Amino acid sequence: LRSASQLVRRSRRDYSSAAAAAGQPERKVAILGAAGGIGQPLALLMKLNPLVSSLSLYDIAGTPGVAADVSHINSPALVKGFVGEEQLGEALEGSDVVIIPAGVPRKPGMTRDDLFNINAGIVKGLCTAISKYCPNALVNMISNPVNSTVPIAAEVFKKAGTYDEKKLFGVTTLDVVRAKTFYAGKASVPVTEVNVPVVGGHAGITILPLFSQATPATNALSHEDIKALTKRTQDGGTEVVEAKAGKGSATLSMAYAGAVFADACLKGLNGVPDVVECSFVQSTVTELPFFASKVRLGKNGVEEVHGLGQLSEFEKGGLENLKGELKSSIEKGIKFAHAN
Ligand code: NAD
Ligand code: LMR
Repeated sequence: LRSASQLVRRSRRDYSSAAAAAGQPERKVAILGAAGGIGQPLALLMKLNPLVSSLSLYDIAGTPGVAADVSHINSPALVKGFVGEEQLGEALEGSDVVIIPAGVPRKPGMTRDDLFNINAGIVKGLCTAISKYCPNALVNMISNPVNSTVPIAAEVFKKAGTYDEKKLFGVTTLDVVRAKTFYAGKASVPVTEVNVPVVGGHAGITILPLFSQATPATNALSHEDIKALTKRTQDGGTEVVEAKAGKGSATLSMAYAGAVFADACLKGLNGVPDVVECSFVQSTVTELPFFASKVRLGKNGVEEVHGLGQLSEFEKGGLENLKGELKSSIEKGIKFAHAN
């Protein structure tokens, strides 16, 4: 009988050769909050991603079970579960991409900002560990309120002397996923062909879908249709929170969106050209220090932050309207990081 450590060594060789055979570098992805509503399906999707050679699943509880379960899937990624703060360093060490869906979700009647008091501290603690154990990793922040948790992460990294603005991302892919789905339905175009940039931030009116730039373009939509699509995209999270009636917020669609964005980060790291996704990043596109727009991903993370392109009058109004709220959410995050 072979010992557990022999088995781990054996499967390490297997995944090494799998990555090498495919001509790909080995990539380690860590998920923090991996036993949660998003974390579990996201772990499943990352286990299925052929670019992942090592998948590290961390949570304060429950990860041994999730890791054992996911590890039985016959794909190359070697899965390991880590539980409790004393195992966080090992979970993070050597990571190329760290995805953070740790923290509490909304219940009906709450705003994302109502999560600040709990999630700000969680994100701060996890980012402190990232700066210590994998300061070069690309960080994909899912925990809400994203408009504040990304600035918190930036300040934690600055304090630790590890901040690289090219490596910190607020995950806004779910807004793009929703905008694509809603647009395809209304315009009767094939959903798999649709592209819609979504800019600004990730809460209510700060989410600004640019349907004037949607492809395939259509004349079929009236101004009223565009207004309704915009509102539905902005309220997409609330639609799910209300439908789940106290049992949390979007988890499955978010896991899909998180997997799409992490895959784009890995492709960029591996040198695949022209990988572009929307993300909430440090930005000079507007006067605000962080802003979501199209971003080209590469070997160092952000290679280029795209501008907004041509906006309709309606979108120009939306852009001006969102700046006040987004600015104060960013400042709230920065203030928290300095005070704690
Ligand atoms: P959940 O409660 O189901 O899971 C959260 C997990 O985080 C739990 O397993 C919990 O144990 C874990 N956790 C708590 N503190 C931790 C810590 N210090 N270290 C590691 N893990 C910790 O919640 P969920 O539905 O998975 O949502 C998670 C977060 O994602 C929420 O803040 C939610 O608002 C946010 N979210 C963001 C988006 C987005 O588009 N960016 C979409 C959906 C949800
Ligand atoms: C979402 O957009 O679904 C998430 O931000 C979760 C939420 O609270 O709406």
